[in-house]
Amino acid sequence: MRAAITLDLTSDVPMHRQLSEAWRQGVLQGRFRSGERVPSTRELAHSLGVSRSTVTAAYEQLIAEGYLVTARGAGTFVCRELPEMLLPQRPTPKRARPAAAPVRWSRWATAVQREHHTARPSHEQAPGMTSFAKWGPDPSHFPAALWRRLILRHWREPKPGLLDYADARGYEPLRQEIAAYVVRLRAARCTPEQVLIVNGSQQALDLSARLLLERGAEVAFEDPGYLGTRRTFDAYGARLRGARIDQEGLVVSDLGSRARLVYVTPSHQFPTGVSMSLTRRLELLAWARRQSAVIVEDDYDSEYRYSGPPLPCLQGLSEDVPVIYCGTFSKVMFPGLRIGYLIVPQPMLQTFVRAKWISDRHTALIEQAALTDFLREGHLERHVRRMRRIYGRRREVLCSALSRHFGERVSVHGECAGMQLLVRFEDRRMRQWAIDASVLLPATDGYYLRPRRHTDYSEFLLGFAAMPEAVIEQAVRRLAAAVPGAARR
Ligand SMILES: Cc1ncc(COP(=O)(O)O)c(C=O)c1O
Repeated sequence: MRAAITLDLTSDVPMHRQLSEAWRQGVLQGRFRSGERVPSTRELAHSLGVSRSTVTAAYEQLIAEGYLVTARGAGTFVCRELPEMLLPQRPTPKRARPAAAPVRWSRWATAVQREHHTARPSHEQAPGMTSFAKWGPDPSHFPAALWRRLILRHWREPKPGLLDYADARGYEPLRQEIAAYVVRLRAARCTPEQVLIVNGSQQALDLSARLLLERGAEVAFEDPGYLGTRRTFDAYGARLRGARIDQEGLVVSDLGSRARLVYVTPSHQFPTGVSMSLTRRLELLAWARRQSAVIVEDDYDSEYRYSGPPLPCLQGLSEDVPVIYCGTFSKVMFPGLRIGYLIVPQPMLQTFVRAKWISDRHTALIEQAALTDFLREGHLERHVRRMRRIYGRRREVLCSALSRHFGERVSVHGECAGMQLLVRFEDRRMRQWAIDASVLLPATDGYYLRPRRHTDYSEFLLGFAAMPEAVIEQAVRRLAAAVPGAARR
């Protein structure tokens, strides 16, 4: 804690009073936060150049007034409940505030302000509500003790390079591990030089948008598609051209002839769950070749495939078309890690690396070093194998509970892969019934570029990976009990 206290040596007010008053103001103004440890009397006396008894007297006063507390053997702390909070509020005289000068926002800021966030509905947090709006992994199954050991390994005697600014491309050994991983498991064409470590796919998409989009330019986009990308493209002023998704994936004939960039999730389309057929992949590459367009491939959760090995990525099929491949550790490990990667075509690499450097220098290094070990020692593949079994069972429980209770009235899509299912109920009143049953079903409406005309069904994206089997069973049973005519088995 920085004291940031100045004492007036010429004042008549005794030093210890000046000191206690300065602390009091610091606490009230939030410069010293509740629960924070205060410097020892010796440290503070030394840094202010006053006697230790002056500081002791000031601290004793503050302790008596309830601003500080001492914990035996642990030190002195700013109190969690300040005297002012406990006193009745005195009315403050109304004074006209000077009008703040209007902020002159950038064009980007204006676009960001227009982007309304799809705020989570308030009833999601309601007690007793079971939410299917968690699309991430189950954190309780992550090997936290192992991760802690790997992190500590690098802190024990940190290599000097790990504590300094470093190469914007990321930690070299990690880039090697990732290149080997995507070549072996995703059939990508990739050398370690092409790997750029970023803070999750979101930064990969942000850098791609910044470098490849002009304001007003047309971008081809899956419809329905991932909101995280759409919001980014919108903020950079792109005009999105929607392409439909059918059983084979993106409908290439919808892409038109103006776009120079297309964003796709071919392994596991978000949110429909469709895997793009080989024919469509080849069609898409042919389209990009004709258009001189760049493809951004978001391969966010292909490791979770329940009927056979993961499909080879699109990037691996392209010899002459620039494909920017975005991978992430958010789903296979945990989203809070904020580590993802780009595989960038060689001719575009330098520009991406410079953009990353300008944007935030590089991604945190100790985590990158621990992640290198996690990959190198086989922990990632073991963890994914284990989680695939757990998520696979949860997915089966959800599918069979839905079919047992709702029969023909429900259809499930994208059940071969991922951590969520697209579920369609043949009744548009479903969402309300679900709320009545204290179950949150997140609707897919927001993912569609064009509002759908069909309103005789309701469609939801149900995350199941973070939900224990019994909770899934119970939620579907509750749902069935609230829906007229559903089977109660
Ligand atoms: C389509 C898609 N791409 C990427 C991500 C992961 O983003 P990040 O790596 O920034 O956590 C998600 C997460 O939900 C996603 O749904």
